[in-house]
Amino acid sequence: MRLLAVETSCDDSAVAVLDQNGHALAELVSTQTVHSGHGGVVPEIASRLHMKVLPGLIREVLDLSGTSLGSIDVFSATAGPGLTGSLLVGLSWTKAAAFALGKPFLGINHLSAHLHIHHGSQVEFPAVALLVSGGHTMVFHMNSWNNCELLGSTRDDAAGEAFDKTAKLMGLGYPGGRLIDELARNGNPDSVPLPSPIGNKKLPEFSFSGLKTAVRLAWESQEFSREDISASFRKVVCDLLVSKTMYQAGKLSAKSILVAGGVSANELLRQNFIRECDKRGLILFLPQIKYAMDNAVMVGRAALSALNTDPAAQSSVSCNAFPRWHGTTLSPLSC
Ligand code: KG4
Ligand code: ZN
Repeated sequence: MRLLAVETSCDDSAVAVLDQNGHALAELVSTQTVHSGHGGVVPEIASRLHMKVLPGLIREVLDLSGTSLGSIDVFSATAGPGLTGSLLVGLSWTKAAAFALGKPFLGINHLSAHLHIHHGSQVEFPAVALLVSGGHTMVFHMNSWNNCELLGSTRDDAAGEAFDKTAKLMGLGYPGGRLIDELARNGNPDSVPLPSPIGNKKLPEFSFSGLKTAVRLAWESQEFSREDISASFRKVVCDLLVSKTMYQAGKLSAKSILVAGGVSANELLRQNFIRECDKRGLILFLPQIKYAMDNAVMVGRAALSALNTDPAAQSSVSCNAFPRWHGTTLSPLSC
């Protein structure tokens, strides 16, 4: 069985061909660097670049995997949440190919896809999952891949967004999470007094916009170096993410912890999760760095997970892009 997966929810065009076990036969990601000059993703530029790049990327991945379009058995693409214009490019292309070839098409939820990068690993349920990216900060209670309840999320900015805004404030590039992470290595994490918003670890909710203001005031005071601000900011954010996830894991007698999304590439976040899971005897699933960011392998694995639950699963031909997810129960198939 050969499955084609396409991801265009934001500024990465990503394509993968997977076998029935979720193993990637070939995968490519084309990242749009043009946005760094704008301090954030410009939606129309992003859509137009997906339109330009995607067909060639699909051709290349098919060639690398030794597969022809006609021998793809299942087509899948991210339907949302994300930037509508960007989503429409990957969704329309993939749906049209499936329609023309008379093959099933699965429209995939991007959030579920991030968690599904761990599908195929030996996850033991119940599990608690932290999804932490540029657009989302969410904690889930998972009883199976298909039974995933939202416990709480951010009330304002996502953690990745807070990293990006802090980087922008200090004149670093976009996206800034990795740059802050690197600067933080040479800073003192206890040097800048920063608040710990919604610090009560029992509440699986987050708020990062007040922290952003505190960082701005610290930066404008000219008393602290970029390194010290980066280290102090990273510590506060990682402490909140880890303590709240671990508290839910204890409360729900979780056996595994799953971490996913771009911010799961963060060095301190990874170290803290490794230490805390080790202490408690929990099995920890951290993505490889390349799979923390948006990629198509996670989309393909989410599609395979939906097919495991129902081998006849497929989306309607009118499956549409959706910018936001307002649900409480997350499933891989979105329409
Ligand atoms: O999952 P992702 O690729 O896209 C979204 O769906 O949002 O995540 C991108 C986010 C950006 O905000 C970026 O700054 C952040 O992940 N990020 C990091 C690191 N690497 C990427 N944040 C903190 N530390 C990192 N090492
Ligand atoms: Zn993402």
